[in-house]
Amino acid sequence: MSTLHSPVQVGPFEFAHRVVLAPLTRMRAEAGARPGPLMAEYHAQRVSEGGFLISEATIAAPNGNGYLGAPGLYDDSQIDGWKRVTDAVHAKGGRIFLQLYHAGRQSHSQLQPDGGAPVAPSAVLHGGVAHTEAGWIPNTPARALTIPEIAGLVESFRSAALRGKEAGFDGVELHAANGYLFDQFLQDGSNRRTDIYGGSFENRARFLIEATEAVISVWGSERVAVRLGPSGTWGDMSDSDP
Ligand SMILES: Cc1cc2nc3c(=O)[nH]c(=O)nc-3n(C[C@H](O)[C@H](O)[C@H](O)COP(=O)(O)O)c2cc1C
Repeated sequence: MSTLHSPVQVGPFEFAHRVVLAPLTRMRAEAGARPGPLMAEYHAQRVSEGGFLISEATIAAPNGNGYLGAPGLYDDSQIDGWKRVTDAVHAKGGRIFLQLYHAGRQSHSQLQPDGGAPVAPSAVLHGGVAHTEAGWIPNTPARALTIPEIAGLVESFRSAALRGKEAGFDGVELHAANGYLFDQFLQDGSNRRTDIYGGSFENRARFLIEATEAVISVWGSERVAVRLGPSGTWGDMSDSDP
């Protein structure tokens, strides 16, 4: 316990102790995936002087939503709400990283801006449910991203990271665990591509590495983290060689 409560240096930050709030999707965003006052209260309640927390997963591109009520940073209109969250955390002497993600196939056509198929590395159905206006309902089939679309998503992560800076975050974590889009590329149960984004592990990691480099171009490497969940099976995930 004495170690748990002792200070720790993490990159440019010194935290007063080692208890960190894990990112937790609460689905309390307002219309347009904009954070409201409830989200500022929630995050600020969970930090104290010298503490550190990671925001709930935040959608980086308009087609990246898997949960009605999840917040975004794919649009400038979402910056102000996040500024209220970071101001509330900083007022208590804490630090907060922005967790950026894309749900990929863990989505539903009702959550897509054009009502179309969710996007994924390959057209492999996620046998789970999505949170929509109709409640929790089975995911609809995904379609495979084209290479230009993947390049576009890398730019979406760069832009969302820039908005995160404007919103006053202390850094960014990319969510590459729990069966969302990055994990769908990493694990071969969901990645059946035969181009430069599929096959070898290096190829399956390419999208995550490109997005990480894009975010580092905005924040510098000391303020960028990646969450991995090796061998994670949640989200209908599998790999032939975990
Ligand atoms: C309701 C709920 C929402 C979650 N949302 C996120 C999330 O947005 N981002 C993330 O990286 N992990 C998320 N997780 C995973 C948690 O961060 C954590 O890894 C998981 O709950 C395991 O820790 P525990 O055993 O202490 O619950 C979520 C978990 C739960 C139960």
